[in-house]
Amino acid sequence: MKNIIFVASEGVPFVKTGGLADVIGSLPKNIDPEYYDVRVILPKYVCMSQPMKALLTYKTHFMMDFNSKNEYVGILECELDHVKYYFIDNEGYFGGALPYGTDGLFEIKKFAFFSKAALSILPVIDFKPDIIHCHDWQTGLIPVYLGERFQANTFFHGIKTVMTIHNLKFQGKWDIKEVQKITDLPQYFFTPDKLELFKDANLLKGGLVYSSAITTVSKTYADEIKTDYYGEQLNGLLNARSNDLRGILNGIDYDEFNPETDDHIPFKYNARNFRKEKHRNKHALQKELSLKQDEKMMMIGIVSRLTDQKGFDLIAHVMDELLNDQIQLVILGTGEEKYENMFRHYAWKYSDKVSANLYYSEALSHKIYAACDAFLMPSLFEPCGLSQLMSLRYGTLPIVRETGGLKDTVEPYNEIYSTGTGFSFLNYNAHEVLTTVRFAERIYYDKKREWNKMIDRAMAANFSWQMSALKYQEMYDWLIS
Ligand code: ADP
Ligand code: GLC
Repeated sequence: MKNIIFVASEGVPFVKTGGLADVIGSLPKNIDPEYYDVRVILPKYVCMSQPMKALLTYKTHFMMDFNSKNEYVGILECELDHVKYYFIDNEGYFGGALPYGTDGLFEIKKFAFFSKAALSILPVIDFKPDIIHCHDWQTGLIPVYLGERFQANTFFHGIKTVMTIHNLKFQGKWDIKEVQKITDLPQYFFTPDKLELFKDANLLKGGLVYSSAITTVSKTYADEIKTDYYGEQLNGLLNARSNDLRGILNGIDYDEFNPETDDHIPFKYNARNFRKEKHRNKHALQKELSLKQDEKMMMIGIVSRLTDQKGFDLIAHVMDELLNDQIQLVILGTGEEKYENMFRHYAWKYSDKVSANLYYSEALSHKIYAACDAFLMPSLFEPCGLSQLMSLRYGTLPIVRETGGLKDTVEPYNEIYSTGTGFSFLNYNAHEVLTTVRFAERIYYDKKREWNKMIDRAMAANFSWQMSALKYQEMYDWLIS
C-alpha cells in the first residue's frame, strides 16, 4: 500500500470557494483504494456549515511552537466515501467569517501555521506518507519545512512531496523580515534561488523549489506558465524545473454532476432525451428568476468568482450590444465590487433579459448548468476550469477563450465538418467575444439540428477523473520507486 496525504486549504463538501475545493473533494476518492491509501488534511474553519462540523469527531490535541508562541493544534477527523479526512483546529487562525481574509500578513501566518501543523500531526495520527501532495501557495512551506527542521525526526525521512499549482497568480508574498520571523526559517532560505522573489518572501516559490515534483491542472497551462505572459514572474524557475513539471487535467465528480440524478434541478434528463427534457429546466429558471418566459430564447449562463481572471472586462465592453440580440443572460457569482455593480446595472437596464445573482449557491449553480443553452467563460487565464466541464456534462455548450484548460477541453465548432463541443476564440479582445457569441446565436437559431448534435458530442465527452487519476497514480509510482 502506498500512503498519500493531500494538504489543501479547501475541499468539498466541507468548505468551498472555487475549483480547488472540487478537486480536493473528488480526486482522492478516484485514486485506486486497493493500492493507495489517500487521506486529506484541511483547516477546521469556524465558518464551515453546521452539518459539516457535526460530521467531525475530536481525536486529540497538542501544543506546537509557532511564531514565538506555543500554539494549540487540535485534530478532528471524519471518513467520507472511504477517504479519511483530518482537520486542524485553532480558532485564532481559522476563526474568520470566510476561509480567506483580506489581511495579507494574517493569511501568511494562518497558512504557515497550517503547513507546520500539517507536518506535525503526521506522527500523532500515526500515518507516514510516502508522498505529501500539496496544493497552491497555502501549502508551499510544507516541502521547505520537511527538508529542514522535520529531518531531525527519522519519521520524516524519505517522504516525497508534490506541489500542484491550481492558480499561479496567488503566491503568498510578504516582506522577508516578517516571513522569516513567522516561519523561524534561517536567513539562508531567503535568497533568489530559494524563497525570495524580487525582494519579497514567496511561499509558493518555496514549494516549487523544494518539492520533488510539480504539477498543474492542464497541459496547456503547464506550457503557458513557462512564458513571461502567464508566468507571474515564476516562469524562470518553472523553466528550470520543466523536467519535473507536468500538466494533468482536472476531472469533475460525475456522480455529483449528473443531469440524470441531480436533485437540484427540476427536470432530470440524459444524453438520449435532452431534446425533449432539457428546455423545461430553462422554463423553470426563467420563472424562478423573473425573466421573460420564452423557451425559444437562447439563454447564456455564467457561474464564477467575479475577478479579472474570468474575462469580465471583455464582457463589460459588449454587454449593450449583446443584450440587443435575442438572448438572456443568467449570472451567478460573487467577488469584486466593480463586476457585481456592472451586472447589477445591466439586470436593472434589461430586466427581462438579465438575471444577476450575486451570491453563492450550489443549488442555483446546478440549475444554471442544466437550464442554459450556452455557458460563457472568456477567461484571461484559466489553469483548468471546471465550470466548462460541468456545462459539457449538462449539454450546455461552452463559449470560451482558448487558454489553459479551456483550450484542452472545449473543441471549437467546425461548421464544415460538423465537429466540436463548443465555441472559442483566441485573443483577449472584446470584439472576438461578441463575434463568437453571435456565431453561437446563429447556429442556435438557424441550425438547431447542428446545435443538438453538438450537445450529443458535448454530453458524450468524458471529463470524469478516470483518466486523470491514473496519471496521478503513475506520477506517485514514479516518485516512490
Ligand atoms: P475557479 O476555481 O478559478 O473559481 P473553476 O471553474 O475551476 O474556477 O471552479 C469554480 C467552481 O466554483 C465551480 O464548481 C463553480 O460551479 C463554482 N462556483 C463559482 N461561483 C459560484 C457561486 N457563486 N455559487 C455556486 N458555485 C459557484
Ligand atoms: C483554480 C483555477 C481553475 C482550476 C481550479 C482547480 O482555482 O482558477 O482554473 O480549475 O483551480 O484546479
